[in-house]
Amino acid sequence: MLNIALPKGRLGDKVYEKFAAAGYECGLFHEPGRKLVMSCGDTGVSYFLVKPSDAAIYVERGAADIGVAGKDTLLECGCDVYELLDLGLGVCKVAVAGPVNYREDRSSTLRVATKYVNITKRYYASINREIEIIRLGGSIELAPLLGLSDVIVDIVETGATLKENGLEVFEEIMPISARLVANKASYKFNQKRIDALVAKLKGEAYDQN
Ligand code: PRP
Repeated sequence: MLNIALPKGRLGDKVYEKFAAAGYECGLFHEPGRKLVMSCGDTGVSYFLVKPSDAAIYVERGAADIGVAGKDTLLECGCDVYELLDLGLGVCKVAVAGPVNYREDRSSTLRVATKYVNITKRYYASINREIEIIRLGGSIELAPLLGLSDVIVDIVETGATLKENGLEVFEEIMPISARLVANKASYKFNQKRIDALVAKLKGEAYDQN
């Protein structure tokens, strides 16, 4: 069995549809009450559903052979995995955003709310800007509205959340999408099966020999 870590939620549903279309169907996936582990005997794969930001950690540590993680979470955790394929799903960007009429005072430390602490530190270090990080777990957009931070660094997909809250993008830090990743040792031992899966996800024929 190839163990596959999929992100729970919207992205996971889209990713699973892509795996199913490539021949890795698992009927159990759509059963109500969703089990966290689904073994799909005939296809030779077993799926786990994990928190999106945890997927790369399961793969890095070998609890999953392969998995799907956003480029944002890969950069944030710095996980030591092989990145095999850009799935072209979950396309968005990491950006600096803040109140529409915000004017930055460059003489004082910038207060930045984010769950992407490492990405944020690296970005501001690259432009030599002194910051104070306010680490939050979600609903980051609230921080500047309540005066908790000056700006935020967060994922922007449609931009609707920013717009509805009187915020706008100031800087785009990087584009993001979901990536198929593999544990390094698992890839070595299961290279043919994993390469076959990658080829099927790409819609290519794969020669097993
Ligand atoms: C993400 C992100 C933004 C929102 C952006 O939040 O943190 O809040 O999506 O999407 P949009 O540009 O299409 O409006 P998520 O739903 O993952 O929840 P979170 O607030 O817990 O991070």
